[in-house]
Amino acid sequence: MREGEFNHAQLQGRAISRSARRFGNRRSFEAKRDSTTLRVCDKIDIMPRLPFITFEGSEGCGKSTQVRRLAEHLKRSGIPHLVTREPGGMPIGESIRELLQFAPHGSGMNPETELLLFEASRSQLVREVIKPALEEGTCVISDRFFDSTTVYQGAARKLAPEMVERLNAFAVGDCRPDITFVLDVDLATARSRMQQTARRPDRMEQQPPEFYEEVRKAYRKLADREPNRVVVIDGAQPADQIGNQIWDTLAARFSVLASKSRI
Ligand code: TMP
Repeated sequence: MREGEFNHAQLQGRAISRSARRFGNRRSFEAKRDSTTLRVCDKIDIMPRLPFITFEGSEGCGKSTQVRRLAEHLKRSGIPHLVTREPGGMPIGESIRELLQFAPHGSGMNPETELLLFEASRSQLVREVIKPALEEGTCVISDRFFDSTTVYQGAARKLAPEMVERLNAFAVGDCRPDITFVLDVDLATARSRMQQTARRPDRMEQQPPEFYEEVRKAYRKLADREPNRVVVIDGAQPADQIGNQIWDTLAARFSVLASKSRI
């Protein structure tokens, strides 16, 4: 199944579960699934929840700046939203982040442990923060999500892609991003931006250049594979321009955002 179809099916799945709640439970709803109820279901699907938006890219790509800008835009527009990040986003995840990135004994961490720690943080974040927020009608923006694992642990660390995919699926369940922005920058630009930050590089930022080349290539491959979800943006453009491009894309894809925006 192509990616776009998957997302649509997923949205319908959500609509069906909402309808199922109204009808009692999923099985009894399925039993009533004649042409009339299907039409009802389609109508419910027209009233979508606010989207789950993720940002991805290599170190120094500028995604955290764009996350902030988008959150400010949503705030000015009166749209309920929540910003989170991976790894982290709640106490368990932030402890895992510390271990993954800054713990002095982390230098000996093997790729399998690293993979499992990212997934552990994610499975907690999804259940504790992201799903409840989406269900109560909040737009969720996450600075990184499961694509980071596909790219960093799967492609760059060269762990078996099928295993990474299965663990990603296990961690997120049916909670998948509606849209993902990948900010694409060349290595030289990324490096020079990172040198401007005052903080010391963490463990994940100390890999050889080939590692980040793999990361960049893998993000582009992902976008080719899932063009309906993954939008690649030239991260070397001025921040304002990138911000406008992101908002235009969101407004075009999610009428619920465009219609709620007061700007
Ligand atoms: P950042 O959030 O400041 O970009 O740092 C997170 C680091 O962790 C970054 O180097 C990417 C890396 N990472 C992975 O390798 N796999 C993952 O699944 C996630 C979420 C992040």
